[in-house]
Amino acid sequence: MAMIELKGITRIYQLEEVTVKAIRGLDLSVEEGEFVAVMGPSGSGKSTLMNILGCLDKPSDGTYFLDGIETSKSNADEFAHIRNIKIGFVFQGFNLLARTSAVENVELPMFYNRKNRSREKDQKERAIKVLKEVGLGDRLYHVPSQLSGGQQQRVAIARAMVNDPAFILADEPTGNLDTEMSLEIMALFQSLNDKGKTIIMVTHEPELAVYTKRIITMRDGAMVSDKIVAERKSAAEDLAQWKKDNAQLSEPLSKPALTELEAG
Ligand SMILES: Nc1ncnc2c1ncn2[C@@H]1O[C@H](COP(=O)(O)OP(=O)(O)OP(=O)(O)O)[C@@H](O)[C@H]1O
Ligand SMILES: [Mg+2]
Repeated sequence: MAMIELKGITRIYQLEEVTVKAIRGLDLSVEEGEFVAVMGPSGSGKSTLMNILGCLDKPSDGTYFLDGIETSKSNADEFAHIRNIKIGFVFQGFNLLARTSAVENVELPMFYNRKNRSREKDQKERAIKVLKEVGLGDRLYHVPSQLSGGQQQRVAIARAMVNDPAFILADEPTGNLDTEMSLEIMALFQSLNDKGKTIIMVTHEPELAVYTKRIITMRDGAMVSDKIVAERKSAAEDLAQWKKDNAQLSEPLSKPALTELEAG
C-alpha cells in the first residue's frame, strides 16, 4: 500500500440551503519520496483536499489510509495525534509566533509530540540542527520581524520538519515571496525531497510546479489530470542563474565610485 491512499473521497459542505460538493469521489495514491504539485482554479477543491490530507478535516465519504492507518475511523484524540506526528505544515503566511526566536518557533511542535517527548535540552539541540539544515545556523535567535520573508518561510519549513513527519503539506508556500525567495524555497524543498522527504504542495504558478516530480490538476472537486514532470528543473541552478542575471542590481559599488563618494 502507498503511504497515502485516498479512495472515493467526497467532501460536502452544507451551509443553510446551500450544498457544495467541494470534492467528488477522488482517488489518489502518493508513495514515499514523491514531490507533488496540486494545481487548479480557485474553488476547485485544493485546500479542501489539503485539509483532508493534513487530518484537519474528515471527508463526508470515502477512506483515507496514511501509513496503513485508516484516519477516517480514528477518534478526535488519535486524529490530532496523527496530525502532530505524521504531518508537517507550511502555509503561505508563515504562521510564526511574532515575539519568539527562530529556535523557539521550531521547538514548538516537539511539545505536542507525546510519543517522542524528549528533554528540553535535546529539543533545543534538535531545533538548532534542523535550522542549520535549512541554512539558518546564523539566525537562531532572530525573531520573525528581523528575518526576510524567505528566511521566515525557512523557519516555518524547519518547524514542519522537526518531528520528522511522514510528509510535508505546503499550501502556496511561495505566495508571499518574490522570485528570488521563491526559488530559494523550491531549492530547499528539492534538497529535502532528494533526501527522501515526501512533499505535497499547492501552487498557482506553473513555473514553480516544474520543480516537482508530479502535477495533479483539480477542477470542480475532481482530479482532471495527473502527470509526471518529464524534464524536472533544478531550482538551485535556476536561482544561481537568476542571481547572475540580476547581479548588477545588487553589486557592491566599484572602487572608483567609492573613492568618488568619499571625496564628496
Ligand atoms: N468551510 C466551508 N464551508 C462551505 N463551503 C466551503 C468551505 N470551504 C470551502 N468551501 C467551498 O468548497 C469549494 C472548494 O474550496 P477550496 O477552498 O477547497 O478551493 P481552492 O481550490 O483551495 O481555491 P483557492 O485557489 O481559491 O484557494 C469552494 O466552492 C468553496 O466555496
Ligand atoms: Mg485554497
